[in-house]
Amino acid sequence: MPTNKIGILGFGCVGQGLYDVLQENHQLEVARICVRDKNKERKLPASAFTFDAQELLQDESLVILTELISDPAEALTLIRQALEAGKTVVSANKKAVAENLPELIALQQKYGSRLLYEAAVCGSIPILRTLESYYADEPMQEVNGILNGSSNYILTRLDTEGISYKEALQQAQELGFAEADPTLDVGGYDALHKICIIAAHAFGVVVDVREVLRFGIESITTEDVDLAHKLGARIKLVASAKYTAAQQLQVQVLPTFVWPDNELYYVQNEFNGVQLEAKYAGKQFLKGRGAGSHPTGSAVWADVSAALKGYKYTYPKLKPAPAAPATNTLQLYIRSKGDFPIPDIKWEEVVSFGVSHEAVQLVGVVKKEELLRHQATLESRSTFVVEVPEALSAMEFIQKALQQERVVA
Ligand SMILES: NC(=O)c1ccc[n+]([C@@H]2O[C@H](COP(=O)([O-])OP(=O)(O)OC[C@H]3O[C@@H](n4cnc5c(N)ncnc54)[C@H](OP(=O)(O)O)[C@@H]3O)[C@@H](O)[C@H]2O)c1
Repeated sequence: MPTNKIGILGFGCVGQGLYDVLQENHQLEVARICVRDKNKERKLPASAFTFDAQELLQDESLVILTELISDPAEALTLIRQALEAGKTVVSANKKAVAENLPELIALQQKYGSRLLYEAAVCGSIPILRTLESYYADEPMQEVNGILNGSSNYILTRLDTEGISYKEALQQAQELGFAEADPTLDVGGYDALHKICIIAAHAFGVVVDVREVLRFGIESITTEDVDLAHKLGARIKLVASAKYTAAQQLQVQVLPTFVWPDNELYYVQNEFNGVQLEAKYAGKQFLKGRGAGSHPTGSAVWADVSAALKGYKYTYPKLKPAPAAPATNTLQLYIRSKGDFPIPDIKWEEVVSFGVSHEAVQLVGVVKKEELLRHQATLESRSTFVVEVPEALSAMEFIQKALQQERVVA
């Protein structure tokens, strides 16, 4: 018999946010909440909790299950089991979804179950539903954005306060904008998972996360930030998916110089921003809170509410075969500790403009495969890699980079 009971797996930042939203709108009754730690203090009585996820998974009276735990491997196991049992599941777990999308789509088709995951991509920004429903039939040309609030908060502090990366990271951790282990955020992995999910909904292309070009912001120095100021730009961690001239889908996560004519320039602090370019509608921009208890709880609630009215993803553009990785070139600024040359990268063209015993700075054009081949070495040597949009030539870049500071009388 249908009930109005919802099951919640996980009662951390997102689980509690969802719980608060549910308390205010009184539409669903919360069945038990599953957590892991038996000794943790909770704001609800012990009777509200279970430590056995199976209690919720086997409960036939639940109309919907929300998966909001912090362990991606366990999350995947629970989502799989729920989908195989024909259930409707809402998840916020980007890693579990991005790395297993073909399987999760196949399970929904086979068992008639449903999985929604708007909260996994940019928290409160309704990007997936916009791509799935509004743009179901219109070809997309590009989706790009700032998809990770922690790294954007750090970059904003560097840009506005002139402090070091280490100090900015510490501030972000103290304010709860970055995890104790920030690798997923500052290394670009979180943005990578999100852009891969976006690519499936925007372009119908399931991308293998292991083949996507990804650099993070860990190696940024105040020198790089000063350079961006001289250029009149900001450095942002930009994730993008777009068609190349050869009609291949190019997906990447890279620190990028962004100028004031780009909406992303104004996305500061912990905010996220996504730019869409559709064939006929043209360009659009969405900005909002990409994380946090209530913003993310709101996104989970929006999925729950839609699912209960029968909504499901139809993956309207899904292509039958996975896409071959795009072959393209990139124009990059690279700053590396130590002497020239940085690993023996084969550049299409390259100009160095700052060579000292401490560091080498250069601008050049390189094939993506070549960059991927040297990625591990570059990262191990704390090399900072930033994309320079092709609209600015290497010579213009260097002229601006080397211009003298204007003296203000
Ligand atoms: N935080 C955000 O702003 C945000 C935004 C978008 C998406 N997400 C995603 O949302 C999910 C939850 O994130 P969160 O920030 O809410 O994490 P969190 O604050 O660390 O809370 C995680 C919750 O999951 C429970 N848990 C962990 N492993 C479990 C297991 N094996 N079985 C049962 N319960 C388990 C924990 O139990 P205990 O309470 O017993 O420790 C805790 O209640 C993650 O996938 C995250 O990537 C988070």
